[in-house]
Amino acid sequence: MRYMINGQDMMLGTCYYPEHWDPSLWEEDLERMLEAGIRVIRIAEFAWSKVEPREGEYTYEFFDSFLEKVAKTDMKVIFCTPTATPPAWLTDKYPEVLNGTMDGVLFRHGARRHYNYNSPVYQRFAANITERFASHYAPHPSIIGWQIDNELNCEVSEFYSESDSVAFREFLKVKYGTVEKLNEAWGTVFWNQTYTSWGEVYVPRTTISNSTNPHRVLDYIRFISDSACRFAKMQADIIRKYIKEDDFVTTNGIFSNLDNHRMREESLDFMTYDSYPNFAYCLDAYDEKDPLKDRKWSRNLAEVRAISPVFGIMEQQSGANGWNTRMEAPTPRPGQMTLWTMQSIAHGADYVSYFRWRTCTVGTEIYWHGILDYSSRENRRIKEVRDIAEKLSKIQVIAGAKYEAKVGLIEDYDNIFDAQLDTWHQRIDQESRKNLFAAAQFTHTPLDFVYLREGMDMDELKQYDVLFYPHAVILTQERVGLLEEYVAAGGKLVLGCRAGYKDRNGRCVMDRLPGLASSLAGTDIPEYTFVAPDEGKICADWDGEQVEAAIFNDILAAAAGSAEVLASYTGGDYAGEPALIRNQFGAGEVYYFGGAFAMDTAETFLRKLGMAEPYRDVVKLPACCEIAVRAKGSHRYLFVLNYADKEVEIELKAAVRNLLTQEEENGNVAVEKYGVRIYQIA
Ligand code: GAL
Repeated sequence: MRYMINGQDMMLGTCYYPEHWDPSLWEEDLERMLEAGIRVIRIAEFAWSKVEPREGEYTYEFFDSFLEKVAKTDMKVIFCTPTATPPAWLTDKYPEVLNGTMDGVLFRHGARRHYNYNSPVYQRFAANITERFASHYAPHPSIIGWQIDNELNCEVSEFYSESDSVAFREFLKVKYGTVEKLNEAWGTVFWNQTYTSWGEVYVPRTTISNSTNPHRVLDYIRFISDSACRFAKMQADIIRKYIKEDDFVTTNGIFSNLDNHRMREESLDFMTYDSYPNFAYCLDAYDEKDPLKDRKWSRNLAEVRAISPVFGIMEQQSGANGWNTRMEAPTPRPGQMTLWTMQSIAHGADYVSYFRWRTCTVGTEIYWHGILDYSSRENRRIKEVRDIAEKLSKIQVIAGAKYEAKVGLIEDYDNIFDAQLDTWHQRIDQESRKNLFAAAQFTHTPLDFVYLREGMDMDELKQYDVLFYPHAVILTQERVGLLEEYVAAGGKLVLGCRAGYKDRNGRCVMDRLPGLASSLAGTDIPEYTFVAPDEGKICADWDGEQVEAAIFNDILAAAAGSAEVLASYTGGDYAGEPALIRNQFGAGEVYYFGGAFAMDTAETFLRKLGMAEPYRDVVKLPACCEIAVRAKGSHRYLFVLNYADKEVEIELKAAVRNLLTQEEENGNVAVEKYGVRIYQIA
């Protein structure tokens, strides 16, 4: 890529809506952006009617005249396809393009993302407008790349239109071939759900107790993901016919029911993400007990990094959050815009674009503030942007550097999807992932998410010393093969309770548990149970340390000569039975832990496996600070991010260069509230 995510530049951008403002403001806006250090704008993602005001009537003047102004400056443009907001004339005349609720109530014109991916009519209109936008605007010299739609699967990620049922049947026909095979896969013998023809199969519909066949729901989620991926690819294929060599195609955000890896591989040059850490301080979402708060966005950023190791932020918080109907969160405090920008960069972003330039004066988002307030007057936030641009100019060497981690947290889409629909799976999964991530944060242990995918390169796994696969509920032979190879070559794998009890259809296996993981884990699970609510905390004794085996307990038994019991339960009816088994497998080790990972347990694992605080010889810092290291060639850049609203002290163990001041620092250093330090440590 010539521009952005090119391994050479780190830059700032903003989201701009020329259609919201009088054209007399355009020039001054562009000049002020450039003066503040903003080099890229994203435009047009909701502007279908500006080009096709009525069906089949096209007019390109509006954006032509805007781009003419842009071309007189150094500003670069990311142009978008406008399919997230179909025009009123379209949805009114062709209501079949609308998505709706499970009960069949259509989502009408007035908000956004109310269309469905599978309506042949919408596909035709979306392809057409994409073709019109791309063929007309892509040659423009100021344009450097394209965004598809806006936040695919945001707001709603379930689809219940008639077109969806039709397409679901086609998806299932390809997958199963015959209705008999579908019946078998879905276990429709239960509660007399047997189908006799494809026409009887629908996307999920309202049922008593909201319960529906789980195997069908699992396939339905895969189907939604497939639909979104196909919709993105349809647009990407059109755009690529017209874009200039070196221009890119991306989309923004990562949302549920979507195999983002597939979408990225099929359609995108890289992923961009929309980062709004201020959600942690929204009135309706604020959680006093959440230990991470805005730092939780580091987890989302780690997820983006798992899709694109170096990525962009298409929308970065620059003001208060708020719609007129929901979400009330404060203005970022002085320093927080910088902190959150650097949080994105620490995790692998080389491009950060603020949402939005000026706060909108009309519509649902009048309280979702941009850099400027309604009046455009000079304010504290634009001063902070200037200061961030200045900081960025000092860390350009970091562009293209990769986040470095030796601990990985394994994910796979089968288990992500299954955990959404299965409350038993969901509770252990959410608990363990949340705590493993937080424990890594508080012990200053960089951590990656690692997705197991078909045909993945073993080197991706081998770069990690330890992999946690907290609850490998659905296992496949192929995934077990990958893990066996990883461990045999010397890796350490930690499995938590409930491994291997389902197949890919989400059906429970009749094997002895942990099913396909048995030989890897060297353990047998003769019994298992939920931790009863009246039992309190169930712990296990691991070398004199009490570790909580949260939520669910697999009661273990060593099943191989290479397996050794490391910890036993100290409570419950099974006190004294094994809770943790270590199995030597080839040159590596597998730890099977019978519970979900409580916070302390997660910390204990990181510590006992020698993974906690890998940079302790470089810096000592309080828990409220995050560290991240980006590596490029033989160079290492260490970020210190202070999320606390108070000054803290860190201790540098040797002299290192502060990239922002170009000065050497050593020993005790005060970091101001919301402060950021970036050191070159190698
Ligand atoms: C994002 C979206 C933007 C804007 C912002 C604030 O999810 O992409 O268009 O709506 O949220 O609500």
